[in-house]
Amino acid sequence: MPLISLANQKGGVGKSTTAVNLSAIFAEEKRMKVLLVDFDPQAAATRGLGFNPPELEKTVYDCVVEGKSASDVITKTGIDNLEIMPSNLNLAGAEALLFQRMARERVLEKVLRPVKDSYDLVIIDTPPSLGILTINALKASTHVIVPVQAQYYPLAGIPMLMEVLKMMREDLDHNVDILGFLLTMVDKRTVLAKDVRDSLRERFGDKVFKTEIPVNIRLAEAPSYGKPITHYDPESPGAKAYRELADEVLERLRG
Ligand SMILES: Nc1ncnc2c1ncn2[C@@H]1O[C@H](COP(=O)(O)OP(=O)(O)OP(=O)(O)O)[C@@H](O)[C@H]1O
Ligand SMILES: [Mg+2]
Repeated sequence: MPLISLANQKGGVGKSTTAVNLSAIFAEEKRMKVLLVDFDPQAAATRGLGFNPPELEKTVYDCVVEGKSASDVITKTGIDNLEIMPSNLNLAGAEALLFQRMARERVLEKVLRPVKDSYDLVIIDTPPSLGILTINALKASTHVIVPVQAQYYPLAGIPMLMEVLKMMREDLDHNVDILGFLLTMVDKRTVLAKDVRDSLRERFGDKVFKTEIPVNIRLAEAPSYGKPITHYDPESPGAKAYRELADEVLERLRG
């Protein structure tokens, strides 16, 4: 049963957008039972599905800090087959508290253990850092997707993420498969997009997804309506690209 983290410590590369839209497509269009875990205090994925984070009574914080069980916190979304373990700013305080804990890298893994088998797929959104929250998400995961924004020169941070994955193998005896690098916010007209694609391919070969996510304003608008792109504008280029990505992800998972 795959658990996939979206991770890249660089901010604003499309982690949350990818987490929300892939989850919705797998759940509704591929008829898989999906759990989306929002493990970012910024709670973009929670908001993206129409929740107002400050108003939430129960969030993932209650599981990782207060010891509540996952099933107490998981709630239905407006999307068929998709449930969410939502987040809010409380989670920012979890970071300091986790540091005092034994086995502090395994807290999320333990929280998810009793529920994960009731889903076909778990997707975890992570914050833009390689701190204890992201480490917890990776420790709980079988796979990681690394979104890479095609608009700046973004590759500088990737070796550090690789280093963390290597540390997890060596120190925690936990292997996270890189399912793929995903080029996001691609503007075909720019030379920069081509440069980023070329250097990613050169370094990581066919670990780079064939599917690329174009710049599409509809993808940026959808979260303010609390909807995935497939509801907000199902025929938009962004929706089509995320459907294509979902197919490629399934192909890779089947190996
Ligand atoms: N393909 C796209 N085209 C246009 N805008 C996009 C696209 N993908 C994401 N965005 C917008 O870019 C911003 C950053 O995206 P997103 O929040 O998904 O990144 P993130 O990696 O999760 O950021 P953070 O590191 O802060 O969590 C958001 O405003 C989002 O709506
Ligand atoms: Mg995000």
